[in-house]
Amino acid sequence: MAARRFSRLRLGAGSLSGSMLLCSIFMTLVAVAVAATEQQRPLEDHLSGTVADHESELVAEGSSTWKFNFSSSAPHYFASVYGLLQQWPNTFFPNGHSIAPCEIAPFTKLYHGRLDADEPPSPEWVAFDVEMAYGIMGSFRNSHLLTYQTTRPMKCIYFDGESATLMGSGQMDTQMLHLYGNVSGPPNGDRFRGLFDEYARATGLCDWIREKKLGGSGWGFEGVVRMNAGFEMIVCDFSSPTLRLISHLNVTAPLLPAEEDEQSTREMGVDEVVMPLAKRDEGSSYYPLPPSQTRSDRVTNPTNPPMPPNWRRDREREPFLRSQGWGWFTSATEHYGSSGLGPHVGETRVKVLSCGILSYYSPAFRSAEAAHAKIEQKSLNLTSDGFWKGPGANGSKREGLTHLTRRRRAHTLGDVSVEDAITMREASEAAFYELLSSSPNCSGLDWSGMTNEIVQRNSGYLDRLAQLLKKHEELPVTIIKNQTAIQAWMKTFRDQTHAFLLPYLEYPSASKQSEEKWSRSSELFKATYARCRFHHTRLLDPDQGIFLGAQEKTLKWAVEETYGGICDVMVDIGLSVESVWESKFNSPLNDTREVDNVGLSAEITRWREGVLELMAWLGWAGEWVSCDKKCAWDEKCFIPMWPLMARREGWGGGPGHGPPPGVDGPPEKGREDPQYPSPYRGPYPGFGRPYGPPGGGPGRGRGRPPGFGNGEDEKELWAPVCAKIEYIMG
Ligand SMILES: *[C@@H]1O[C@H](CO)[C@@H](O)[C@H](O)[C@H]1NC(C)=O
Ligand SMILES: *[C@@H]1O[C@H](CO)[C@@H](O)[C@H](O)[C@H]1NC(C)=O
Ligand SMILES: *[C@@H]1O[C@H](CO)[C@@H](O)[C@H](O)[C@H]1NC(C)=O
Ligand SMILES: *[C@@H]1O[C@H](CO)[C@@H](O)[C@H](O)[C@H]1NC(C)=O
Ligand SMILES: *[C@@H]1O[C@H](CO)[C@@H](O)[C@H](O)[C@H]1NC(C)=O
Ligand SMILES: *[C@@H]1O[C@H](CO)[C@@H](O)[C@H](O)[C@H]1NC(C)=O
Ligand SMILES: *[C@@H]1O[C@H](CO)[C@@H](O)[C@H](O)[C@H]1NC(C)=O
Ligand SMILES: *[C@@H]1O[C@H](CO)[C@@H](O)[C@H](O)[C@H]1NC(C)=O
Repeated sequence: MAARRFSRLRLGAGSLSGSMLLCSIFMTLVAVAVAATEQQRPLEDHLSGTVADHESELVAEGSSTWKFNFSSSAPHYFASVYGLLQQWPNTFFPNGHSIAPCEIAPFTKLYHGRLDADEPPSPEWVAFDVEMAYGIMGSFRNSHLLTYQTTRPMKCIYFDGESATLMGSGQMDTQMLHLYGNVSGPPNGDRFRGLFDEYARATGLCDWIREKKLGGSGWGFEGVVRMNAGFEMIVCDFSSPTLRLISHLNVTAPLLPAEEDEQSTREMGVDEVVMPLAKRDEGSSYYPLPPSQTRSDRVTNPTNPPMPPNWRRDREREPFLRSQGWGWFTSATEHYGSSGLGPHVGETRVKVLSCGILSYYSPAFRSAEAAHAKIEQKSLNLTSDGFWKGPGANGSKREGLTHLTRRRRAHTLGDVSVEDAITMREASEAAFYELLSSSPNCSGLDWSGMTNEIVQRNSGYLDRLAQLLKKHEELPVTIIKNQTAIQAWMKTFRDQTHAFLLPYLEYPSASKQSEEKWSRSSELFKATYARCRFHHTRLLDPDQGIFLGAQEKTLKWAVEETYGGICDVMVDIGLSVESVWESKFNSPLNDTREVDNVGLSAEITRWREGVLELMAWLGWAGEWVSCDKKCAWDEKCFIPMWPLMARREGWGGGPGHGPPPGVDGPPEKGREDPQYPSPYRGPYPGFGRPYGPPGGGPGRGRGRPPGFGNGEDEKELWAPVCAKIEYIMG
C-alpha cells in the first residue's frame, strides 16, 4: 500500500474555510517570511540544509497530513528497476537488491586486460569499455589487451548496485546470498582475502549456472554483469563459440626516461627519427585474426590484483598512468544514465530482459522488508504503519526529508533468512530457465523503458512544482493579499497541475456548482485517480486475456503502487487547484481589492508538503542531484565511484600515488604477501558508507573489511562538482 491513506483531518479541497485554526498559525508565520528574492535553487537546497529554514515554518511538529507508507518496498522496487544498467543511480544506491537476466547483442566488443601474454583461464573478467580494462591492467611492464567480439546474442545475469565493489558493506549481498545463503560466506577468520573471494564468487556463480542447466559453452547464460566504475562481465567460458578473440596485443608502452637518463633521450632527438611515408592502401586490408581461444582451464591460483591507477605510486615513468585513470573514470561517466543532469544513456550494450527481473524488494521477501522497516521506524521516526511522525521536536523538517529521500542507501540484506535466499535462488532458476524456452511467458512490455519514462516525466516535474510552491511560501504578506499577484501565481501553478492531469481528467459540467465535486470523496476524484494509477498497466489484466508470470506481476505491482503514489498526491492537489481556481479566481479581476488569502496559503502549504513528502517517498535522490553548472570541455561531473575516489591530501598524485593516510600503502619490498596482497589488506577508503543507524543495522558489515565509510566521499556524492584530471590523479 503506497500513499493511499490520508488522515481524515486533512482539509478537503472544497473546505478551505474550515481550515481557519491552522490558518491563524500560518498567518503569523507568513508574516515573517522573507520576500521572494532568493534565486531559484535546486531541490537539494530544500532538502539538505544550506538555506534559511522555511521548512521549520512549515508544520514544525506533529505528523504530516499526508500519509505515505515509508515502510513499503514498492518505491524501492520501482527505483531499482528504473536504475538498472545506469551508473548514476547505482552509485547513489550501491547496495543492489535485484537480479536481472540480460542479453548482449551480436558483435559487441569486450575487453580483457591482463599482466601476462596468456589467454585468460575461465572464469575471468571482461569490460565493456577498453578504458576500464586498461585502467585496471595498463601501465605495468607486461600489460596485455585482448579484444573479443560476440558472434551471436549472449545471455547474461546482472546483479545491480555497485556489485563489483570489493570493499564495502552490502554491495555484494545479492551475490553472496545466491552463493551461500548468507551475506558473509564461508568463515575466513574475518580476513579480507582480496581476489581470492572474487574468484570464488565468479567460479561459484558460473558453476551454479552450469549445474542448473541455465547455460554452458555457446548456449544459455554465459556471463555475469556487474558494476563498479563502469560495467564488467564475468565470462564463464572463454572458449565459447559465442566469443571470438579479434586481437591480442602487448600494450606495454616504453617508459619515460629516468631523471638521470635525460642525456640519452636527447641523443635520439626527434629530427633523427625518419618517419616513412605511409604507403597508400596499407592497413586497408583485413588484419589477420589471432587463433580462436580453445583454452578453458579453470583458475586455480589468483594472480596478484593490480592496484587501481590512482592508488599506485612508484610508477612515475609509466607514460599513460594518469591518462589511463582519467580515461577509466570518463568512460564510466558515459554510462551515468538518468541523473539530475537529465535522461542520459546507461550501459546500452547490455539489455535487460525485463520480463525476468527479480528483486529482494518484492513482497515475496518479507524478511528483508521487515528488517528495513524495523530499523527505519527508529532511525527515521516512522510509525509501525510506516507513516512519518515528523522530524521530532528538535529536528528540522528539511533534514528529516533528506534522510527519508535517501533511505534506500542504507539498505543491506544482512537480515535475509536462509529460506528467503533459497526462495530467491529457486525463483531465479525458474525465471531464467523459462527465458531459455522457445516461448517464454512474457507480455513483451519493456519495464525498463516504462519505469524510466515515469522517472523522466516526473522527477524534474516534481522538483519544479516544489520550487514554485517554495516561491509562494516566500511571498511577503502584501503580495499574498494582492489578488492580481496571487492570481498570476495561481495561473502558473494551475498550468502545471493541469499538465499532469491532462490524460486523466474530464472537467465536470459547469452547472454543478458545488465545491464538493472536487473533493477526495467525489466520483470525479475516484475516476481521475483510477485513470492515473492504471495509466501504464490497464491492459495487463486477465480481462484483456493477459496472464502475467510471477516476475511481471510484481513489476506491475511496483509500477501501480509507485505511480499510484504520484497520482494520489497529484490528483488531490490538481483537483484542489481547480476548486480554488473556480471559487476564487475564475471571475473578472479586481486588483484594488485586498483579499484574505490566509486560507489559501494554508492550502498551498499543504500542497507543498505533499510534493516534498512524495519526492522523499519515491526516493529518487540521484535525480535531484547534479553538478550545478555545465562542465568545461576538460572536465566531467564527478561522483566517487569505487575505486576512483577523489585524490586527497597526501595521496593519489605526484610523488606518492597511493592510498590515503591510515591505509596500507603499496607493498614495500619483502612485505608482499602473495596470497593477500596489501592493497586489500588494510582498511580502505571504500565507497562512503551508506548512512544509517549508528554502527549499521544488524548484519551490516559482518565478515567485511573495516574502513568502509568516508565522510568526504559521502559529501562529494551529494554535492558533485566538475572535476579535471588532477582531481583524481593528482
Ligand atoms: C506499510 O507497508 C508495510 C510493508 O509492506 C506494511 O507492513 C504496512 O502494513 C503498511 N502500512 C499500511 C498503513 O498499509
Ligand atoms: C611486452 O612488451 C614489453 C615492452 O616491450 C616487454 O618488456 C615484455 O617482455 C613483453 N611481453 C611479452 C610476453 O612479450
Ligand atoms: C554462511 O554460509 C556459509 C556457507 O554456507 C557457512 O559456512 C557460514 O557458516 C555461514 N555464516 C553464517 C554467519 O551463518
Ligand atoms: C527523527 O527525530 C530526530 C529527533 O528529533 C531528528 O533529529 C531526526 O532528524 C528525525 N529523523 C527524521 C527522518 O525525521
Ligand atoms: C530538545 O532540545 C532540548 C533543549 O536542548 C532538550 O532538553 C530536549 O531533550 C530535546 N528533545 C529531544 C527529543 O531531543
Ligand atoms: C498588485 O500586484 C500587481 C501586479 O504585481 C501590481 O501591479 C499592483 O500595483 C499591486 N496592487 C497593490 C494594491 O499592491
Ligand atoms: C504465464 O504464467 C502465469 C503464472 O504462472 C499463468 O497463469 C499463465 O497462464 C501463463 N501464460 C501463458 C501464456 O503461458
Ligand atoms: C472591486 O473591489 C472594490 C473594493 O473592494 C469593490 O467596491 C468593487 O465592487 C469590486 N468590483 C468588482 C467588479 O468586484
